[in-house]
Amino acid sequence: MKHLPKYHPHPRLPPEWLHWQIIERDTVLKHAGLVHGADMLEVGCGPQAISTIPLALSVGERGKVVALDLGRWAVFEN
Ligand SMILES: C[S@@+](CC[C@H](N)C(=O)[O-])C[C@H]1O[C@@H](n2cnc3c(N)ncnc32)[C@H](O)[C@@H]1O
Repeated sequence: MKHLPKYHPHPRLPPEWLHWQIIERDTVLKHAGLVHGADMLEVGCGPQAISTIPLALSVGERGKVVALDLGRWAVFEN
């Protein structure tokens, strides 16, 4: 199986860019009233799972997150 190349953010972005984006989504989702153990469908997850990770943390081990995106592999084309 071919492995995906390591993700590198755009050179103008700081190295911790992805980390801050995930923290931002996590902060917003804390106000969304997500229930532990819920099943979630995330439409438009993007290629970096920025919201998928905090969603998965919100629903916990008994919950489920199915994440889909129209352009899932677009960032890996180069
Ligand atoms: C701005 S990105 C958001 C990524 C991520 N949810 C986040 O929190 O950063 C929007 C994503 O929605 C996807 N998208 C747009 N229209 C869609 C559709 N009809 N079905 C599935 N994904 C779609 C795009 O490919 C893109 O990756």
